[in-house]
Amino acid sequence: MAKKIKTCKDSFVTMTEMVLPNDTNTLNNLMGGRLMHWMDIVSAIAAQRHSNRIVVTASVDNISFSKAIQLGNVVTLNAFVTRAFSSSMEVYIEVTAEDIPSSKKIETNSAFFTFVAVDQTGRPIDVPEVKPETEFEKELYAGALRRRQLRLVLGKRMKPEDATELKEIFKIG
Ligand SMILES: CC(C)(COP(=O)(O)OP(=O)(O)OC[C@H]1O[C@@H](n2cnc3c(N)ncnc32)[C@H](O)[C@@H]1OP(=O)(O)O)[C@@H](O)C(=O)NCCC(=O)NCCS
Repeated sequence: MAKKIKTCKDSFVTMTEMVLPNDTNTLNNLMGGRLMHWMDIVSAIAAQRHSNRIVVTASVDNISFSKAIQLGNVVTLNAFVTRAFSSSMEVYIEVTAEDIPSSKKIETNSAFFTFVAVDQTGRPIDVPEVKPETEFEKELYAGALRRRQLRLVLGKRMKPEDATELKEIFKIG
């Protein structure tokens, strides 16, 4: 049976949070762990919207914290599924922090999380394909196979010699 196809818009989620004292470190900046928790939630909702299934986090790509988010900032997290494989889905998350009194808004983080759709017993189950529409979505879709191979090699689930897309980039072998 042909797979169902969904767009990135179908899975798009926006989540808004305000940084409160309990979310901060001793410098009054948002703790990295709290931000990662929000990223996990927003991306899980995107993966659920895409698959209409229970999803579990399979892996998280690297996250850099180069800009601090301050107490009182309003944090917006946007997420959508960039590409789906058999049971797994790559989700892109973009984070912005807004200081409302000064009307300043900055992009602070972005990351890719991978989720797997599972049945009631926790077994992986097939998900719809993604049809990218915008140039940005197409760019993310194209890069998803390379990123999948990288994370599977790092997770020891793929032999480096089988990672054809990566070999192409690094011109190995
Ligand atoms: C993720 C999980 C469902 C994979 O189950 P599995 O029995 O290993 O299943 P498979 O080997 O058939 O892999 C299923 C899919 O997961 C993907 N996957 C597994 N490990 C992965 C990893 N580290 N990174 C990215 N994708 C991964 C596989 O590529 C496969 O994708 P595909 O179906 O699209 O090809 C299972 O390992 C699990 O339940 N993990 C715990 C999840 C969890 O509790 N998350 C919260 C952490 S606190």
